[in-house]
Amino acid sequence: AMIGEISGLHVLEKRIKEILSVESVIVVPGDSDQRASIKTEMGKAAVSYLRKKLTSNNTIAVTGGSTIAAVADAMTPLTKDKQVLFVPARGGIGEKVENQASRIVSEMARKTDGDYRMLYVPDPISDSTYETIMKEPHVMEALEVIKSSNIVLHGVGDALKMAERRRSSQEVMQLLKEKNAVGEAFGYYFDEYGNVIYKVKTVGIQLQDIDDSKQVITVAGGSSKAKAIVSYFKQAKSNILITDQGAAEEILRG
Ligand code: BG6
Repeated sequence: AMIGEISGLHVLEKRIKEILSVESVIVVPGDSDQRASIKTEMGKAAVSYLRKKLTSNNTIAVTGGSTIAAVADAMTPLTKDKQVLFVPARGGIGEKVENQASRIVSEMARKTDGDYRMLYVPDPISDSTYETIMKEPHVMEALEVIKSSNIVLHGVGDALKMAERRRSSQEVMQLLKEKNAVGEAFGYYFDEYGNVIYKVKTVGIQLQDIDDSKQVITVAGGSSKAKAIVSYFKQAKSNILITDQGAAEEILRG
């Protein structure tokens, strides 16, 4: 039974790779919508993948969310001889503290004996505050470090759930519904074709910063995130999707 299950997962991985046109896919057994412990399994898979991708000098930009928090839970020492610096990918975007990128980077640094940097920016941020804060030396400096990151570790969310979690305005909720938003990543909301239909104004990594110079690790699972995952991969670049069986099977069902 075990062997059957494992080869079944490999078949799933291969098919998801083709559907999303992504280099690598790891599917862990189970559905994190049903069992929270499956997030920890995705977290462990993300940690071992990350360990293999380290170079001599690493700046790892990390987003918030409960899935990336599970990666922090699963974190173990990564390396003895390489530099590792964790930075939040973007300014806080309306998460409760345990799921905030700033909390997550500090835990990752503690567990790996690495370093971390913070990015202090208000959220949500108005246009005028944005202009002002971008001139703050500590923000400018932190931003430079974030943009130079060579590894990006991020989650993907269901669009409407994320908008609610961020207590978005009625106008924004309305827009997302009208335009059929299904997925969200880095504060960008996508429809099923991967079109960006709205973005949260915050400082940090923007979609256009995610290019081939960065190793991008996407961690997202649960059958309810199938559409969200597909929408992200239509729009943006990633080297690997680490997901669960629940999401993978739902993606196949289309
Ligand atoms: C948020 C990120 O912190 O977490 C989002 O800003 C992401 O971009 C979300 O979509 C994912 O959250 P979760 O809890 O579903 O892993």
